[in-house]
Amino acid sequence: MTLNPEEIVAADLSYSQLACLELRIAAFKQLDHGGVLKFLGVKPDSGRLATYKKLRPGLSPKARAKWDRHPEAVHFGIIHAGKFEKFLGRYQGLLRSWVHATQAIDELLRPKARAQRIAFHAQTWNTRAWRLLNRLAFSRRVLGLLGRDKEFFRHAGQDVTTGPRLRLTRALTEIPVATNPYLRYHLTGNYADAALPLYLRREHFEAIRRRARRIRLYLGPVEKAPGKFSGFNLSNIFEYMDAEGT
Ligand SMILES: C[S@@+](CC[C@H](N)C(=O)[O-])C[C@H]1O[C@@H](n2cnc3c(N)ncnc32)[C@H](O)[C@@H]1O
Repeated sequence: MTLNPEEIVAADLSYSQLACLELRIAAFKQLDHGGVLKFLGVKPDSGRLATYKKLRPGLSPKARAKWDRHPEAVHFGIIHAGKFEKFLGRYQGLLRSWVHATQAIDELLRPKARAQRIAFHAQTWNTRAWRLLNRLAFSRRVLGLLGRDKEFFRHAGQDVTTGPRLRLTRALTEIPVATNPYLRYHLTGNYADAALPLYLRREHFEAIRRRARRIRLYLGPVEKAPGKFSGFNLSNIFEYMDAEGT
């Protein structure tokens, strides 16, 4: 959106993802930036169901039926409604009660230069309890039971835990921690003003709102999405594919 495309086709095999996108688009069209952050679940809001009533007429009948069936997801904020986000909620509970005190988490998330991040990780963060938590959380068994869809593992190799653990270490050391929305969500269960994903940043709000009508939803495999494309954002779909597909 920020690259000013003529059209975007959002393809997904899962209708739930498209229903989320449709509700997000309705929120961008009808609310202001602060209202979007509240409605989606970034900022506190006790009136999300009332806001949903306002947005509802702008949804397709299918999306309306979906969200009418899930008022609890709207009430708690749809960015927190996924299976993986619920799994992260449990992870964060363990992190706070068993691995690191709030001060250490706050200190980790404070802006630091690369050398300081590496030192903090080595001296304070990378404890035995931290490593154990991640070994457990990213084990095939726990991810399968609590987090990821079992389909996720169909084409995965034997070792599904090392990759996420290495990426997490990289995110704690090599990449600035204080502005990383995904790490922030992983550790605290929400974004922060200084750590918002691109689409939620104030500076992009107007452009996305104006261009939202250029988004077309497509339910089905990305390979079959109709149109001619000059760019792709393929998310993590390779995790679901066999070697031939990739
Ligand atoms: C991490 S989620 C991203 C969801 C959403 N697009 C977003 O950005 O928030 C990855 C999504 O890829 C979808 N997916 C996996 N393989 C796909 C394929 N071959 N074609 C279309 N969607 C696929 C899954 O259903 C899943 O919803």
